[in-house]
Amino acid sequence: MSSSLLEVKNLTKVYVSGMRAKRAVKAVENVSFNIPGDRPHITALVGESGSGKTTILRLVLGFIKPTSGEILYKGVNIQNLLRKDQKAYRKEVQVVFQDPYSIYNPVYRVDRVLETVINKFNLGEGKDHKAIIEETLRMIGIRPEDLLGRYPHQISGGERQRLMLARILLMRPRLILADEPVSMIDVSLRAIFLDTFLEFKKKYGISALYITHDFNIGHYIADDGIVLCSGNIIEKGPMTALVREPLHPYTKALIDSIPRPDPTRRWPHKIQLKVEKPAERMQPHACAFFGRCPSVCNDCAKSRPPFVKVGKDREVACFHYD
Ligand SMILES: Nc1ncnc2c1ncn2[C@@H]1O[C@H](COP(=O)(O)OP(=O)(O)OP(=O)(O)O)[C@@H](O)[C@H]1O
Ligand SMILES: [Mg+2]
Repeated sequence: MSSSLLEVKNLTKVYVSGMRAKRAVKAVENVSFNIPGDRPHITALVGESGSGKTTILRLVLGFIKPTSGEILYKGVNIQNLLRKDQKAYRKEVQVVFQDPYSIYNPVYRVDRVLETVINKFNLGEGKDHKAIIEETLRMIGIRPEDLLGRYPHQISGGERQRLMLARILLMRPRLILADEPVSMIDVSLRAIFLDTFLEFKKKYGISALYITHDFNIGHYIADDGIVLCSGNIIEKGPMTALVREPLHPYTKALIDSIPRPDPTRRWPHKIQLKVEKPAERMQPHACAFFGRCPSVCNDCAKSRPPFVKVGKDREVACFHYD
């Protein structure tokens, strides 16, 4: 039996689009990572726009099929889950989207949104539904009287995000997949939202795979980080080490591109990241950062660098550490 909650093994996804002239985009390539099952754990998946983050999330949710590789949940390939286990997977693995409005039926009041979830998953074991809903709302710091009885369009974006967390908490998931959930809410609510994730981990033992392009957020929320460059993982390790001492030039570039609120300093931005469609620009046999890397050498053009262990818990795919 695997001790991982989620194990992603050599995952590759090639999108093929176009009617006559088929165009293939390798959005995710040979990606492997683990989320441990023996303790609640938050992993940040960090990468620039187009690096394949959402594709990984959609693969894990089973919305799309991998071209190759596999995804194991508690040791079982999610493609082989039996009907019964599929239902458990749908309950135990929850997702937080960027815009929660899209998942609410506009003619359902908040009460009914939550009630539907209770009925669908048979939650609460016969307890009074209203009591369960009120208890859950209080657990995430919402006064039930502030939200119940209202329609989704009658509550603010921040409240809708928190309502979505309440809806998720009702299901008592083991794992939350979050795709840049704070990019559309204002800064003051961001901290509250992120703290709710940390509380979910601490109080209720819920793990998360948290997708972001922002190392500040990754650092705030995650134990470990995975850095994705044009569909390839190029560095993994504890989040604090990644931020304090990034190893890969791409990780350094992402960290350099974080704006700092200091008017006396120019934005360092030593390495320019051109962001449009990196997956499509990538050379098939070179390092994923080839063409943009300031430390490029001959080997970088020839093959993808293998992972090299650095210290006891870090890994980097760069020939300079070979
Ligand atoms: N359905 C699709 N068909 C074809 N190509 C796609 C499809 N979805 C995504 N892609 C391409 O795959 C690559 C990765 O896309 P993905 O949405 O996973 O990136 P991302 O890291 O989530 O980006 P962002 O930060 O902008 O959300 C991109 O080059 C994108 O254009
Ligand atoms: Mg995305």
